[in-house]
Amino acid sequence: MKIFETHAHYDDECYDKDRDALISSMLADEGSVDYIINVGASIRGCHASMELADKYERVYAAIGVHPDDIVNLGKDEIEWLKNCALHNPKVVAVGEIGLDYYYPEPEKTLQLEKFREQLSLAVEVNKPVIIHSRDACNDTLESIKGENAQNVGGIIHCYSYSKEAARDFLNLGFHIGIGGVLTFKNAKKLVEAAEYIPMDRIVLETDCPYMAPEPHRGTRNYSENISFVAEKLACIKGLSREEVIDITNMNARKLFGI
Ligand code: NI
Repeated sequence: MKIFETHAHYDDECYDKDRDALISSMLADEGSVDYIINVGASIRGCHASMELADKYERVYAAIGVHPDDIVNLGKDEIEWLKNCALHNPKVVAVGEIGLDYYYPEPEKTLQLEKFREQLSLAVEVNKPVIIHSRDACNDTLESIKGENAQNVGGIIHCYSYSKEAARDFLNLGFHIGIGGVLTFKNAKKLVEAAEYIPMDRIVLETDCPYMAPEPHRGTRNYSENISFVAEKLACIKGLSREEVIDITNMNARKLFGI
C-alpha cells in the first residue's frame, strides 16, 4: 500500500508554479501516494480544495474555516459549507476547524462560537471533523462533547498535547494526526504520545507546505515526505515503515469512508 495523506494545503500559492506536475507525479503509478485530503482553511481554500478534488480522482476535500479566518464566517458561509458537504461526494470531512489560543486574536469567545457551529454542522451532515487545536486542549474536549461530535469522530491534527490528553481524545473515538514534528529533535512529548496511542488510531499527515520532516525541515513540504514520519513512527512502534504506511492508510480510508 502507499501513503494516505490526511492533511495537505496544495491550494497554497507556493505551489502555483508546479501544482499539477507535483500532484500528478505523487499519485502516478511510480509515485508513493495513494490518496490526498486537501483541507480548506478559509472559504477561498474550500473552493480550491473542491476544485482539486474534482480534478484528481484520488484527491478528496475537507471544508471548514480555521480559527485564523473565522471573522469571515457568517450565516451565509455556514449554509454554503453545509450544502457542499451534503451534495458534493468528494467532500469527506469538515475541517480544518478548531481553537488556537497561541495568539490573542481572534478572541476566545468568538473562536469557541464558530468552532461549535462547525462541529454542529459536521454532526448534521454526518461527516468526520479535522480539528486544529493549539493551547486549547480542555475547550476542545468540552466543545466536542457539548456538540456530540464524538458521534462523527475525526482527527486531532498536528497533535501537540500530552499522552494523558491523548487518552481523552481516544476515549471520544478520535484519531490522532501525526506529521513532521515527530522527526524533530525536540519532539520528546510527541514521541511519548506516539508510544502510547494505539496504531489503529493514528493517521499520517504533512500540513504541507508547512512542517517538513527531518532531514528536510524548513523546506516546502509535500506528501511524499510522509515516508520520513512513517520511518520514525516505525522505530517507535517496532514495526516496519511499510506496516506503518499500510495501517495508517487503512485507518484513514475507514474514517473517511473511501
Ligand atoms: Ni492545516
